[in-house]
Amino acid sequence: MGKIIVTRKVPDKFIEQLEAIDTVELWDDAYTPMPRDKFLKALSEATACFITLSEQIDEEALNAAPNLKIIANMAVGFDNIDVQLAHDHNIVVTNTPDVLTETTAELGVSLTLSVARRIVEAERYVQEGKWQSWSPYLLAGKDLYRAKVGIFGMGDIGKAVARRLKGFEANIMYHNRSRHSDAEEELGALYVSFDTLLKNSDFIICTAPLTEETKDKFDKQAFEKMKKEAIFINIGRGAVVDEEALIHALNEGQIWACGLDVLREEPINMANPLLKMKNAVIVPHIGSASIVTRDRMIQLCVDNIKLVLAGHEPLTPVRG
Ligand code: DGY
Repeated sequence: MGKIIVTRKVPDKFIEQLEAIDTVELWDDAYTPMPRDKFLKALSEATACFITLSEQIDEEALNAAPNLKIIANMAVGFDNIDVQLAHDHNIVVTNTPDVLTETTAELGVSLTLSVARRIVEAERYVQEGKWQSWSPYLLAGKDLYRAKVGIFGMGDIGKAVARRLKGFEANIMYHNRSRHSDAEEELGALYVSFDTLLKNSDFIICTAPLTEETKDKFDKQAFEKMKKEAIFINIGRGAVVDEEALIHALNEGQIWACGLDVLREEPINMANPLLKMKNAVIVPHIGSASIVTRDRMIQLCVDNIKLVLAGHEPLTPVRG
C-alpha cells in the first residue's frame, strides 16, 4: 500500500475511483498549487501522482519519491517533467493527448478572431461609455476570410486549427519539424520554411510544444521578418517566444497585434507591459478549458493511474 497524490481539487467522482484502489492525499484547492514542500513530503510515500502543469518534476522531486510508479500529467504538454530522468527512475509518465485537441483548436480560433476583430477592446469601449455613434472605421479590424495563415507546429492541434480555418477559406501554410502529407492532402496546407512562414503570413498561429528546438524560436529576428500587419497567436507554450522581442515588435509597430493563451511566466506578472497594450489579448492558459474536456483529461489521468498500479500499460504513455 502506498499513497496516490492528487495536487488539485477535482470532483469527488474522480477521487472516489482512486480511493477504491489506495489512500488518496488530495490538495483540496482548485486554484492554488500544492506548496512544493508539501508535494515533496507527499512524494516520499507515493506510488502514483496526478499532477498539473504547476508541478515541476525534476531531480529533487524524483529523489524524494522512492516508490513512485506513475506521474499522470493533466496536460498534453509535459515540459514540466524531466521525462528522461523519470524513466531512469523506472517511473511511467503519462499525458492527455487527443481528448483536448478540438477544444484547444476552438480556443485558438476564438483568440485569433478576438484579436483580429478587436473584441476585447470593443467590449471595454462599450463598458467605458465611449459608444457615442456608429462610425465608419470604429474598431475596424482584420479579416480571417481568405487570409494567409501560417501555422507553426502541425501536430494534432495544428491540424484541428487548420481544419477550422478551411471554413474561412484561409490559405494555410505551415512549418513543422517534419512534413505532414495528411495536412497537405486533406487541408491543402503548404509546407514552407520558417522564414517563408514569417514573411508571408497575415496570421501566425503557434501551437508548438516547448522543446530544445522550439525554445525562443520567435525571437527579435523572427518578429522583424513578419509583416507589419501580421497578427501573432500563441496557444503552444510561452517559452517558444522571446517575450521582450514580442513586446518590442508590438511597441515599434513591427507587427499589428498578438493573442496569447500561454506566457513565459504563468500566472502573468502584473507588471508585464503586455497587459497595458491594447493590441495584446491575454487569456490565462485556458486552451483545453471546456467542462467536458477537463472531465475527460481528469478521467484519462485516473485511468492511467489505475492501469499502472494494476501492473498494466497506461493508455497514453509519454515515450522517452
Ligand atoms: C496542455 O494540455 O498542454 C495545455 O497547455 C493545458 O491546457
